[in-house]
Amino acid sequence: RRLRAAHSIDDLRDAARRTLPRMVFDYVDGGAQSESTMRQNRAAFERHRLLSAAPVDVSRRSTATTLFGQSLAMPLIIGPTGYASAFWPKGDLALARAAAAAGVPFVVSNGANSRLKDIAEASGGQAWLQLYIAHDKQATLGLIGEARALGFETLEVTVDTALPGRRIRDIRNGFTVPYSWTPAKVADVLRHPGWMLRALPHGAPRPGLMPMEQGRSWATVSEFVRSQINPAIGWDDLKWLRDQWPGTLIVKGLLDPGQVEPAIGAGYDGIVISNHGGRQLDGAVSTLDVLPDFAAAAKRRIPLLIDSGVRTGTDILKAIALGANAVQVGRATLYGLSTAGEAGVGHALGIFRTELDMAMALVGLNRVADATPAIVRTIA
Ligand code: FNR
Repeated sequence: RRLRAAHSIDDLRDAARRTLPRMVFDYVDGGAQSESTMRQNRAAFERHRLLSAAPVDVSRRSTATTLFGQSLAMPLIIGPTGYASAFWPKGDLALARAAAAAGVPFVVSNGANSRLKDIAEASGGQAWLQLYIAHDKQATLGLIGEARALGFETLEVTVDTALPGRRIRDIRNGFTVPYSWTPAKVADVLRHPGWMLRALPHGAPRPGLMPMEQGRSWATVSEFVRSQINPAIGWDDLKWLRDQWPGTLIVKGLLDPGQVEPAIGAGYDGIVISNHGGRQLDGAVSTLDVLPDFAAAAKRRIPLLIDSGVRTGTDILKAIALGANAVQVGRATLYGLSTAGEAGVGHALGIFRTELDMAMALVGLNRVADATPAIVRTIA
């Protein structure tokens, strides 16, 4: 019923806000510090406008594309998001199943709450794994060894999280791993009985793919991330990782086009241009604004993915036109997950597909990969 009333990702966000306790909604919805980068991400998509080449025969259209030898029903990937069971029980499995059903990849977060084996099964072998290089490289090797044995082919290493961003909403709300309770938080949960009955009986999500030290509970999410991720990571470590992983290897979280050359030099197969949805460096540039410089530096030698702020099918078309091979989404599918589990994720993906197809028809494109910068104008 909630899904039938949701016609856009913004509608799904409204539905998620009504469904989730405030502390959980703020965890997915919020950004770092003043949230200025998070707002810029949307503003950049608004500033870039589409030109229509009509009249064009668009009676035949395809949103399909290929990436790293894999066929995608549309140039969209569900990006890695940790702690997904806070939104829906076994949230990672719901995301994996919905992605597989829609013919797009799903990136398992290093902060996932389910076992890797179960997620691999749910994804029908289509999932990628996201990695943070841990303090303990043996732990990192253990995880990628397990992924390899389970048939994972694509690894995405995130580099924009030397330290966890200061997410003021989470700090104010006292959002902890696992949950801790104050009268205000109890009242918040009681006002959201759907979530309380659905998610709470499963207990607080546990990080399934990270070593959880005993006696370190009741940490804020940020303290927990800090305990897990090694802030000393540099290109040497990324080269080390290249030697450990025979499959497709992608670096996520680049914002400086000057990093294209080092990425290619280190033998990487792809780049995700990302500011982590405005959750890390507040004040960072929006990804769409630097995409043309990345495309110029890459000269088609390495596929470029982009995320941060994608909410509509026209956003996807703008990103492809400016040089991206595909987009990743974080919050959009989580709003769907929070509203209706796997069906909600499928609904979000359906909205993207419908909107992308519509945008192609009205812009005058038969194949999404044919979009060029000529269809985009930037307004002041
Ligand atoms: C994230 N993101 C993220 N990225 C990553 O590499 N590893 C992770 O574990 C997480 N966890 C995570 C949790 C939540 C709740 C969110 C919202 C995001 C960042 C994510 O992959 C992506 O970069 C952004 O979400 C993209 O911005 P949009 O699409 O949310 O605007």
